Amino acid sequence: MNTEPLVLITGGGGSLGAELTLLLSGMGRKVRVFDLPGLDYDLLEETAGIEVFPGDITDRASLSEAAADVDSVIHLAALLPPATEEDWTRTEAVNVGGTGSLLDAVRQRNSEAHFIFSSSVAAYGDTTDENEPLTVEREFRPNDFYSRSKALAEKLVVESGLPYTVLRISGIAIPAFLEPPAVWPFMRDQRMEFVCRGDVVAALFHSVGNGEARGRVFNVAGGPTWQMLGHQYVEALFELMGVLPEEARYMDQPGWFDWYQTSDSQAALDFQQTSFQDFLIMVKKAVEELLG
Ligand SMILES: NC(=O)c1ccc[n+]([C@@H]2O[C@H](COP(=O)([O-])OP(=O)(O)OC[C@H]3O[C@@H](n4cnc5c(N)ncnc54)[C@H](O)[C@@H]3O)[C@@H](O)[C@H]2O)c1
Repeated sequence: MNTEPLVLITGGGGSLGAELTLLLSGMGRKVRVFDLPGLDYDLLEETAGIEVFPGDITDRASLSEAAADVDSVIHLAALLPPATEEDWTRTEAVNVGGTGSLLDAVRQRNSEAHFIFSSSVAAYGDTTDENEPLTVEREFRPNDFYSRSKALAEKLVVESGLPYTVLRISGIAIPAFLEPPAVWPFMRDQRMEFVCRGDVVAALFHSVGNGEARGRVFNVAGGPTWQMLGHQYVEALFELMGVLPEEARYMDQPGWFDWYQTSDSQAALDFQQTSFQDFLIMVKKAVEELLG
């Protein structure tokens, strides 16, 4: 019988999931990655302590097997925009139905397993009429397929009877040289507060086995140094990349983003390790490496 604590990470082959998997296994945890077949699992498979379990979250039988012996579950598998907006039936099946089936599978295997869910601030909807940083008490007003799917999935998690932790994650900033989006997902003068990917990984990592985080819902955003207006964020990045600010295109309707109350999440999860200035230094380094 398996006695070492085992963490199941759905979506463990994705952007957050792969970084988190390597961090957890590097800290000596046993990790099972559940993600779609056909991804490049070479790095994960050759790392000690990682078991790759290819499967589809809409397939109950494979979920039941994947949930065997788990002590903690980090549920990241999901469709994200723009794919979510193409087909509600598929989005609901993966993001809502998949979450429900996973909860069932885990409950049947171990009703004490800690279920950690990556929700999104998208579920708050348009908050541009608010004046204060958003708290987790703010009601949901989802305004597209993705935000609706996250709101519904979160409800399933909270009502599941499993010990849970919900992280409502803001926009994730990746410290690399990336092609800017055709349209930034906020208005030029909209409040926004992104968070560096490594800090989200830290929030997920510090949720595992954390008694203080059980039964709680947290906002996960970068903190005071990341609170700015859309154009300030874009102009700081563009300056590093040598792109003129007038080339930026912004939404003409409000995007989901805002400023968030994160003192509770920071106290419980100790994840805000990268200031916006630190992030810019990381991007600058990536740009310089690319340009030789
Ligand atoms: N990226 C962001 O800005 C952001 C912000 C807030 C919340 N989140 C949430 O964080 C989680 C991880 O996001 P990410 O940025 O790593 O995205 P990602 O697309 O890199 O990871 C999602 C993973 O889910 C897997 N997946 C999709 N459909 C599946 C299915 N049917 N069965 C099994 N696996 C499936 C994908 O293969 C992928 O590896 C998601 O739940 C996302 O909604 C992301």
